[in-house]
Amino acid sequence: MNAWGVRLSPSARHTVLIGSLFVIASGIAWMALGWMVDAQDYADPLHTLRHRILVLHGITAYVLVWMAGRLSNLHQQGNWRAHRNRGNGLLLSTTLALLAVSGLCLYYPPHEDWLASISQLHQILGIVLALLLPLHLLAASALRRLRMHPDNAR
Ligand code: HEM
Ligand code: HEM
Repeated sequence: MNAWGVRLSPSARHTVLIGSLFVIASGIAWMALGWMVDAQDYADPLHTLRHRILVLHGITAYVLVWMAGRLSNLHQQGNWRAHRNRGNGLLLSTTLALLAVSGLCLYYPPHEDWLASISQLHQILGIVLALLLPLHLLAASALRRLRMHPDNAR
């Protein structure tokens, strides 16, 4: 059996969830620190902490994109073809792709004036991802229950 197959092995599932948790938690922590820190005061230790959290976010985000690539072949395409969890899976994959593009635009903005808007869009998409992922897992466990007790489908 392939660990990163249509159904994920426990180790692949944990890897995806821990990777996602790091990206989501670091993004939210950066936003939360923004309310506490004075952006102009570079001596504020919270400023340094916020910067380090953003570095962690950038690194873990690359790892998550790599994981999404590993999921694409069997998990996403396989479940798509089998019509399983399609709606939520498509939304999740689209959100991830938009996050990757908007994240890239934060590094290389098409126009400097757009930076603040791209940042806001990226943050909204990040919160959407944080909401969609638990829904995806709930749908996955509902599917598993259905497989174990197919009579409930009627
Ligand atoms: C078109 C896209 C996708 C479809 C159709 C899809 C479909 C599914 C289905 C049907 C399951 C239940 C598997 C089972 O137990 O039988 C599932 C579980 C899961 N999916 Fe997706 N998925 C998609 C995209 C994604 C993406 C982008 C991620 C990662 C961010 C992801 C992460 C997971 C995880 C962690 C589980 C839980 C695995 C488990 O509990 O064994 N999926 N997905
Ligand atoms: C595939 C998923 C993601 C990718 C590829 C990604 C990528 C990036 C990149 C490259 C940056 C710029 C880092 C820097 O300037 O040093 C960034 C910043 C940021 N990301 Fe993400 N990110 C992802 C998901 C998320 C999520 C889930 C959240 C929130 C829950 C989030 C919130 C943020 C925030 C708040 C910033 C700082 C914005 C700014 O500098 O104006 N990101 N992200």
